[in-house]
Amino acid sequence: MTVDQETYEALTRADQAHLLHPQYYAPDHTQPVIFESGKGVWLTDMQGNRYIDALSSLWNVAVGHGREELADAAAAQMRKVAFTNNYTGFSNIPAIKLASKVVDLAYDNMGGVYFTNSGSESNEGAFKTARFYWNLQGRPDKVKIIARERSYHGGTLATSSLTGLSVFWKYFGPMVPEMVHTRKPDNLECDCEPNTDGECAHWVEDAILREGPDTVAAIICEPVKGAGGVWTPADGYFQRVREICDRYEVLLIADEVITGFGRTGHWFALERWGVQPDILSIAKALTSGYVPMGAFVVSEAILDALKDTPPDARFMHAYTNSAHPTAAAVGLRNLQIMEDERLVQNAAAMGDRLGEGLRGALDGHPHITDLRHLGLMAGFSVVQDASTGRAYEAARGVGVAVQKHMREESGVITRIVGDSVLFAPPLVIDASEVDQIVDAAAKAVRAVTEG
Ligand SMILES: Cc1ncc(COP(=O)(O)O)c(C=O)c1O
Repeated sequence: MTVDQETYEALTRADQAHLLHPQYYAPDHTQPVIFESGKGVWLTDMQGNRYIDALSSLWNVAVGHGREELADAAAAQMRKVAFTNNYTGFSNIPAIKLASKVVDLAYDNMGGVYFTNSGSESNEGAFKTARFYWNLQGRPDKVKIIARERSYHGGTLATSSLTGLSVFWKYFGPMVPEMVHTRKPDNLECDCEPNTDGECAHWVEDAILREGPDTVAAIICEPVKGAGGVWTPADGYFQRVREICDRYEVLLIADEVITGFGRTGHWFALERWGVQPDILSIAKALTSGYVPMGAFVVSEAILDALKDTPPDARFMHAYTNSAHPTAAAVGLRNLQIMEDERLVQNAAAMGDRLGEGLRGALDGHPHITDLRHLGLMAGFSVVQDASTGRAYEAARGVGVAVQKHMREESGVITRIVGDSVLFAPPLVIDASEVDQIVDAAAKAVRAVTEG
């Protein structure tokens, strides 16, 4: 056994003994990949194997790995001060600058930024803000939040309750009350073009009417459902959702934790359809994963309401690390890299190359359905019979086999959800790296479905 192998095995034993991982399941952790370093879209594990990081790690490393500028920004800010209280009455320079920058880049109606440490906290704050806002309007019964099937909104109890994937509820119940989901309306007859996962805007209207518009505070939507399987919306879907929200006086929360900051070829995803949310949740690419940071951003109308409250209505929502100066300094530098290197434009071009490449390689394949992409997010499903859409009996096993083949034979790391294989590489990716991902996917599909 080489020294490296011995070290790997010792570390693996220690990991298995003491480190509890997100989505923990011991049988899936017998031979973990232990990463050590990265550069651009490439990751290297402690045994020296190199991989293309085709999911930007967890959809977050937008500017790629190994950016010295971000390490320098963090170190310079840390040298100035460890941390400063950001509660009302105090502030810090990088956070002030970053809030202004986010408002500049986000939708024209956005007014105020509340910094968090994660996407879950951003959504949790968005829900509380929606309820707070309706209380200020004298509508205290508007408390329910609606989310959609197959959505993912986070790991806290409220955000898990709203996540529309039941695996995230099992054994954790009871879930939080007044957090409800859309479902296919009975006897639905409409001529809407459906989203790639089959829903349409009528599902949203049906849920609001079922719950009673006077009890609904907000609906939360990911512009592209990410962790649920990269399901893209039909053109026109979000315009209709916006109209429905306006008609029933329901706030629209855009969960852009994945899609924010260029992922779909626009700074923010709903720009593509000319739609503006009332509250915007962000995280991930805000700091490209170099340090944790998120935010919820509120419209000018909500900001005005928060600024003009009765004496008893203090917004008692707080995190110690909100607007952490180190994270804010990294966020500012990160957004500057995105602008300097025109990464939003690159995401649009490379996203089209990835989508077209996957279609060229896999469209018409007897075991592939639902090839989908928007900007630099893509996915496809591996099924028993593409002509009927019939899934494999062990659907997840097939997804796992494709994922394993891509990693072990082609050095490409991606993510699966059931039988869907998902891609969201860093925005810095170039054409030859996109082509390597496409080749790896095609080879893996061939090996798993024919071999
Ligand atoms: C759309 C969306 N919302 C919220 C979250 C939760 O973010 P975090 O894991 O940073 O709490 C995620 C995480 O993947 C996400 O994809």
